[in-house]
Amino acid sequence: MALRVLTGITTTGTPHLGNYVGAIRPAVAASRRAEVASFYFLADYHALIKCDDPLRIQRSRLEIAASWLAAGLDPDKVTFYRQSDIPEIPELTWLLTCVTAKGLMNRAHAYKAAVDANLAAGEDADAGVTMGLYSYPILMAADILMFARKQSGFDAMRVPVGRDQVQHIEMARDVAARFNHLFGAGRDCFALPEAAIEEQVATLPGLDGRKMSKSYDNTIPLFAGGAGRLRESILRIVTDSKAPGEPKDAESSHLFAIYRAFAGADEAAAFRRELEGGLAWGEAKQRLFERIDAELAPMRARYEALIARPADIEDILQAGAKKARALATPFLAELRAAVGLRSMRELAAPAAQKPKKKGAKGARFVSFREKDGHFHFRFLAADGEELLLSVPFEDPQAAGEWIRVLQKSGGAASFAWGPGDLEIRKTEHVGGHAYELWYGRERLAEGGPRAEPAARDAAVDKLVAEMEALWQQAGEG
Ligand code: TRP
Repeated sequence: MALRVLTGITTTGTPHLGNYVGAIRPAVAASRRAEVASFYFLADYHALIKCDDPLRIQRSRLEIAASWLAAGLDPDKVTFYRQSDIPEIPELTWLLTCVTAKGLMNRAHAYKAAVDANLAAGEDADAGVTMGLYSYPILMAADILMFARKQSGFDAMRVPVGRDQVQHIEMARDVAARFNHLFGAGRDCFALPEAAIEEQVATLPGLDGRKMSKSYDNTIPLFAGGAGRLRESILRIVTDSKAPGEPKDAESSHLFAIYRAFAGADEAAAFRRELEGGLAWGEAKQRLFERIDAELAPMRARYEALIARPADIEDILQAGAKKARALATPFLAELRAAVGLRSMRELAAPAAQKPKKKGAKGARFVSFREKDGHFHFRFLAADGEELLLSVPFEDPQAAGEWIRVLQKSGGAASFAWGPGDLEIRKTEHVGGHAYELWYGRERLAEGGPRAEPAARDAAVDKLVAEMEALWQQAGEG
């Protein structure tokens, strides 16, 4: 995939029309492009920074997930997950925290605004400021960089955000560059993310004409409350006091601005002519309601069906977390090793391997695609014997990342045979005597059953020898 696109949605509120027009609709459209791999997640750890009401967090996660799915986000095409289901993210946050300058965080707009407000009120500069708020940009950097592994075969990591978030993306770049410099060993760990500001996506005015925003209490809910609530809200849009029959100025009317966000160019032009021809505001509101409802009604039906079955949403998010972790787990393993969090066992490794003859064909990984669409890899000994067959992966990148982890494990590395991160478990089943390769809690691959335990044990010994030889080569190369 040429492009990765990633964005987070803080789960503190109920989605409104402004979120739909400004974020949900363009994101769903972008996620359908074939050359883009999209990552969308519920930023629920970020929500905890702003909100200490557990019920509101719970409700908002459900409503936001249901809204995005109802609006057409296809969880089979994109990676849709909850931040709090990816334990690698807070772990990466700490690694990044340790290389982030405090001075950089002092300059974050959100923190500075809080300090300015405190000083203006004659309070202590940091009154009411939590470490969560202060470190907010580091968690956000981890969200992004977790999926920005440089060697993953994408050209750019794009982060669509509002203007208020651009500084955070710049901070993520700074932190990534610092980490690369310290720990990349001449080779970048992270690709640097880029902010993508959607210029053509208008911000939607709210009921009072200011930007539609929860903080101005001027929103029109997207699905909550059904068509009835939508109509009621639209009736509350502020207009001028021109009487029916009097010409209206469409350009200065936010009712018209909202209409335009939902209508095609011809439709909008026709509506403008009617307003200029004296259409009554009451009638104009009815037209606006009908236009918006025509787009939203089918989605609302899906939304209501989803909300009624929260367990299904949970399943979708769990499946998304699995996809996300297939990338995050091996990458975090590399990053831990990069900073020096490595297994002790590696220090005892005797490195008494005979050097490989130049040109000799060594053991190797090969990946392939199964007819059912899943991806696998095999590990073949130098003589071609199959020593491992991986579990199925939905994503070819996940298979590739695990191969890279396994190739490098020993040399540079944090791995150990036995109950360390990387482990071979012998298994017995009806097919015979087999073995499995585990990384932490992930079962990665298995070795085909042998009729005799001795044959299985020999295969395990061969696997260990071949992989250690491979690591030695990787260490030299
Ligand atoms: N801070 C973002 C906002 O308030 C939400 C967010 C969290 C995010 N993590 C992110 C956006 C990572 C983009 C990338 O809008």
